[in-house]
Amino acid sequence: MLARRGAAALARRGPRARRLSNFHPLAQHVDRPDNKVETPFDFTPENHIRAEHILGKYPANYRASGIIPLLDLAQRQHGGWLPVAAMDKVAALVGVAPMRVYEVATFYTMFNREPVGKYFIQLCGTTPCMVCGSEAIKKAIEDHLGIQEGETTKDGLFTLREVECLGACANAPMVQMNDDYYECLTPKSVVELLEACKRGEKHEMGRWGSLPMNGQVSCEGPRGKTSLGNGPPAPYAMREDLKGEVDPASVKAHMGY
Ligand code: FES
Repeated sequence: MLARRGAAALARRGPRARRLSNFHPLAQHVDRPDNKVETPFDFTPENHIRAEHILGKYPANYRASGIIPLLDLAQRQHGGWLPVAAMDKVAALVGVAPMRVYEVATFYTMFNREPVGKYFIQLCGTTPCMVCGSEAIKKAIEDHLGIQEGETTKDGLFTLREVECLGACANAPMVQMNDDYYECLTPKSVVELLEACKRGEKHEMGRWGSLPMNGQVSCEGPRGKTSLGNGPPAPYAMREDLKGEVDPASVKAHMGY
């Protein structure tokens, strides 16, 4: 009841208040048939191996350092969200009280406490993106999908959530959709992106594993490369076996995605 009253008050105060609050629908736990302490969850045999590999990176007395990568592993296994039982499993694996894991999972916006759509859109609303038009991008998404920030479309395809800086400020405004970055957006290009997703036509990521939607290759400015033209080669170019080409898929495989 308390949570319901708090949520109603925040709804009256607007989306930013909701986003900054623990009452955010994606952070607040609500018992559901598929999300109770008793709901069984375990890692698959393959993910058990990955979990041991992750924990092997830390000293025995710092196993708690594996909480974030293990939550990420659990979320990927569970279709993009974390039931309570998954958090409890992670707590048991690293040997901490479940509350220590709940604190992490509810602090970082990368973790979802409720099911999300097939395409989980994280829209950056921090200052550089905001001054470059993120509010217009958000409105275009909301209008096109008929949802508000924090909601999922009825067909389960899209969830929209506004988050803080995603580290692609040079190509603002931008969104992260699942693991991929779409940058240099306009209201028109973001709608085109949504329509492509509806048709199941995934945009190929650019050379650097992200996609500036205005034709840029990377984060060069509107006049192209104007500096560092004769600088040292980029690190990738130093490796003879890469020959100046980076395959985004191989980067993701290396990162364990
Ligand atoms: S401010 Fe949007 S990515 Fe940094």
